Amino acid sequence: MSKLITFIIQPGHSLNGEIRVPGDKSMSHRSIMLGSLAEGVTHVKGFLNAEDAMSTLKAFRAMGVEITDPVEGEVTIQGVGKHGLKAPKNPLDLGNSGTSMRLLSGLLVGQNFDCILTGDESLSSRPMRRVTEPLALMGANIKTQEDGSAPLHIKGTKNLQGIDYTLPMASAQVKSCLLLAGMYAAGETKVTEPAPTRDHTERMLNGFGYPVKREGCQAMVNSEGKLTATNIDVPSDISSAAFFLVGASIAKNSDVTLCHVGMNPTRTGIINILQLMGANISILNHREVGGEPVADLRVMTAALKGITIPEALVPLAIDEFPVLFIAAACATGQTILTGAEELRVKECDRIQVMAEGLETLGVDVQVTVDGMIINGGKIKGGEVVSHGDHRIAMAFSIAGLRASAPIKIQDCVNVNTSFPEFRKLATSLGLQLQSIEE
Ligand code: S3P
Repeated sequence: MSKLITFIIQPGHSLNGEIRVPGDKSMSHRSIMLGSLAEGVTHVKGFLNAEDAMSTLKAFRAMGVEITDPVEGEVTIQGVGKHGLKAPKNPLDLGNSGTSMRLLSGLLVGQNFDCILTGDESLSSRPMRRVTEPLALMGANIKTQEDGSAPLHIKGTKNLQGIDYTLPMASAQVKSCLLLAGMYAAGETKVTEPAPTRDHTERMLNGFGYPVKREGCQAMVNSEGKLTATNIDVPSDISSAAFFLVGASIAKNSDVTLCHVGMNPTRTGIINILQLMGANISILNHREVGGEPVADLRVMTAALKGITIPEALVPLAIDEFPVLFIAAACATGQTILTGAEELRVKECDRIQVMAEGLETLGVDVQVTVDGMIINGGKIKGGEVVSHGDHRIAMAFSIAGLRASAPIKIQDCVNVNTSFPEFRKLATSLGLQLQSIEE
């Protein structure tokens, strides 16, 4: 049984100071995957030492790759080459990590061994047909449970065929899964997305010298490339920085600088949305580090106003909506989100769970099929449940900055999946957060 952690946030307070949040989760996963398949030794800096990225790391160790334990974000991977993975002795347990399961399924269907991918209760209830169906079109032998969920049973095959596939939803995980499968398929694999999603797979493949062609919303690979080891510098995760971008905007007298934040344009929707709401965010020292744009972000208190969120920004801020709902609850007027049905299949149904918590805290919200309407107003104290979802737990912690009484958040142990230092960094800036083990 895992521990039960409850967060208690004392209301009010300001956020002030300068911090560097931990490394980007998406890039950390990919650094292990591609470093393992590369020829030579890859050194990673800024690796996210949190449960999700560690699930990927442990999976590759179980497939025979020597990888050091992360020490202050540094990891060394002894690449085994594109065809060097070995059959794992046991099912690969990917914990809570959807990225590990979806990307690994693509990478493993073309190996010369069979394997089973499992996960925790949340991951085992998430939809996997979005990857298994297109993989089957490529000739993969991959089976889900009857309802389309994990465990996934994969029988490796040498007979994968490239496909020309248009994604039914904007999903970087599905896109990446198919591109990784395409590295083992005959002919060209072409993936077209309905709207731009994070492109770390494409960029990092290029960084390892593996050719990926890109034309508009289409990315293409074939099996002819090889990966050559490289050094990777993972910037801070904008999805973790997001909690403080909102926190310092809504808390009185706040001034926070977030250093070395990844500014890949497929990830900066949170900044665009907050700026449309009137946030005071300065982008400083914009620079390029290892093929990814990076900047320091200074954010100060601002009077936010409600907006209609442009749908094109939704995939570019997909993980930031729990905390954006808190921003909307503190804004003057109405915020309308549409086109975000994907939020219902994240670590929990983030539309329903956030709406229930906001209602408990006295916020006027209306749930819709693909989004939410939030009328800004006052936030009361109360007790909410995170449903084991890290971003829900952290979002309600930030709500405490504007609450009129303490907020108690149940079930917060999963903060460790993406941001184990959250409590330490948040309290160093001024959030009054107490963590209780029950
Ligand atoms: C991720 C893609 C996103 C995101 C997830 C990480 C990735 O999922 O929600 O946290 O690393 O590719 P979808 O692409 O399925 O929306």
